[in-house]
Amino acid sequence: MYDKQPSNKSVIDIQDKPVKHKRRVRYKGTHPRKFSEKYKELNPEQYPDDVKKVQDRGQTPAGMHLPICVNEICEVLQLGKGKSGIDCTLGYGGHSLAMLKRILPGGFLIGIDIDQVELEKTQNRFHNLGLNDTKFLTRRMNFSNIKDCLNLRPDGFDFILADLGVSSMQLDKPERGFSFKNTAPLDLRMDNSSGETAAVMLMRINEDFLVNILIENADEPYAELLGKSIITNRINCQSTIGLASVIMETLQDKVNESDCKLSVRRVFQALRIELNKEFDALNSLLHAIPHCLKSKGRIAILTFHSGEDRRVKKSFKRLTEEGLYAQCIRRPIRASFQEQHDNPRSSSAKLRWAEKA
Ligand SMILES: C[S@@+](CC[C@H](N)C(=O)[O-])C[C@H]1O[C@@H](n2cnc3c(N)ncnc32)[C@H](O)[C@@H]1O
Repeated sequence: MYDKQPSNKSVIDIQDKPVKHKRRVRYKGTHPRKFSEKYKELNPEQYPDDVKKVQDRGQTPAGMHLPICVNEICEVLQLGKGKSGIDCTLGYGGHSLAMLKRILPGGFLIGIDIDQVELEKTQNRFHNLGLNDTKFLTRRMNFSNIKDCLNLRPDGFDFILADLGVSSMQLDKPERGFSFKNTAPLDLRMDNSSGETAAVMLMRINEDFLVNILIENADEPYAELLGKSIITNRINCQSTIGLASVIMETLQDKVNESDCKLSVRRVFQALRIELNKEFDALNSLLHAIPHCLKSKGRIAILTFHSGEDRRVKKSFKRLTEEGLYAQCIRRPIRASFQEQHDNPRSSSAKLRWAEKA
């Protein structure tokens, strides 16, 4: 199906390729615990059975991202052979690969991501699958500049997908500083090649600003209490665990442990959204999409919290009323019960689509 492919191999057959032997990392005990020691999960193509075992336990293997609502997305985007599109959030490329299978031969996909590290890895994996530049191209950029892709297809695209937020690779890799499960400097940048880290931002902002972003970006019910305590103790919030501990200590007499953890998640989410200017990027994307689609072209967006979904819903509704979209979905599509069971991250996902007039 694809060019430059080893003879008679389909894209799924890559585990059959000869693999250079590399000594595995040493770890204590019988099972690897640290992210970097999970050498099988980090090489999913070489250890498909081990990776499947992790997935069967309802977990996402280290270094991978399980794409959500894949069939639903391919259906609402009305993919077919020869169509061209943009994946605004390439990540591990799970959605891109599924879409390429439906649009090739004859189709063309651009995969965008702001994260240089993960973009390069996915690009290499895709090139090894025989996906050359006439079928699949990557662009390292913010999707807010999606109109730049019109240089490649001035008439526009048949479909666009955005799967918002962070990938499991970004969340799980301790050194990216996204997760409070491991200690690391509090970073939270999707593009870790430039800009300030969340640790630096926390030293710069004031209490009112922090309270505001905790409410606006994460609907945090203890925003005022946490805003005060984080700013007072900000010197101790320079690491992921440091920030999590300050939040847990602040709330421990008020709520149970699992609710404390929910607040930790929401604070990390609020800081991440602010640091990466995620709502500004989403607003620019929503504004640009109709200009990038052909007539009858479709956009699908997967959101993971109310701040994102509200923006997508309002934009689709307004642009449909203004006649730029012919139709849009009223109620979001949710992942099936089976998918929510297999991949808990899909429980909060909402899928919306619109069709250009
Ligand atoms: C949820 S993951 C996408 C996973 C992907 N659909 C897959 O199947 O592997 C979101 C990705 O979008 C990227 N991203 C988030 N905001 C972005 C933006 N404004 N511009 C470009 N990429 C962005 C992140 O770096 C991350 O890799």
